[in-house]
Amino acid sequence: MTELLEKLRDSALEAIARARESSALEDIRVKYLGKKGELTAILKQMGALPPDLRPVMGSLANTVRDAIEGALSGRVAALGKADAAARLERERIDVTLPAKAIPRGSVHPMSAVFAELEDIFTSMGFSVESGPDVEYAYVNFTALNMKHTHPARDARDTFYVDLPGIEGEGCILRTQTSGAQIRTMLASKPPIRMVCPGRVFRCDEIDATHSPMFHQFEGLVVDRGINMGHLKSTLEHFASAVFGPETRLRFRPHHFPYTEPSAEVDVSCYVCGGTGCRVCKGEGWIELLGCGMVHPAVLRGCGIDPGVYTGFAFGFGIDRITMVKHGIDDMRLLFENDVRFLKQFS
Ligand code: DAH
Repeated sequence: MTELLEKLRDSALEAIARARESSALEDIRVKYLGKKGELTAILKQMGALPPDLRPVMGSLANTVRDAIEGALSGRVAALGKADAAARLERERIDVTLPAKAIPRGSVHPMSAVFAELEDIFTSMGFSVESGPDVEYAYVNFTALNMKHTHPARDARDTFYVDLPGIEGEGCILRTQTSGAQIRTMLASKPPIRMVCPGRVFRCDEIDATHSPMFHQFEGLVVDRGINMGHLKSTLEHFASAVFGPETRLRFRPHHFPYTEPSAEVDVSCYVCGGTGCRVCKGEGWIELLGCGMVHPAVLRGCGIDPGVYTGFAFGFGIDRITMVKHGIDDMRLLFENDVRFLKQFS
């Protein structure tokens, strides 16, 4: 039996010395010291020994167990250190490597033009207002002095929106940002200086130059003593800031229901400078905006006394300006948000 125990000890110690991984050590422990292990099997035979030999064998068995356990824990510690060292080596990080580049987005060309326009007007003391896309027909048309028979109200031109519980003229997708004038005058007293950039909607087929959704920029000034001269100088300042200091404006008489007098304004072609090119169709001028002095009926309808206050207003589309500025020949590109297109503006 002594021999068996010594053999068991020697083979266990050898296996422990040979083990390369912590998991192998656990297998060895189970094999030799486990409940069904080899040492237990030998100890089971103790009963067959003469009583005086049992304590001797018992103490030898304990020494063997201690030796194996000692070797096991020593090896566990050594392998643990080796494991950790190997992992550190495997997971080595070179902190001097260049970082992964995170792709940067870019400002949409439309948003960039809005921001540029807002800058120009806020620097002149204008506030920036916004109105809802879904607007009362009253605000979009009636309060702007547009008769109920006005052709723009036709359902072939305007998107009507059926909203339960809305009384009166109902709702539409706003066809112009001019309604923002009404909202501002109803909400605040003069002096008023505001601009409103925004989306507008009209029943149009989509093609390279038309879209049922496009963008406008509106302006309104109301105060004592405001006259056409203020309108002209404001627009001239804006045009030279956007198109350059050489830019000239041309005012033509026109009609809008919400202004009196009204004008359409052309800008000297911002591509050829006025000599005539493809963009201005040889004219030297590009139609830019509509404007005028706010109609007394519009002021009165918003609770502002036209005997005390006067105002001017203007409005224009900005999709075309954006397209010419960037040489974009198809309006759809502005709205499809194809990343390959947008990337060019980063
Ligand atoms: N609302 C007009 C349009 O959609 C543009 C416009 C013309 C706005 C004259 C104005 C204005 O404020 O006074 O074409």
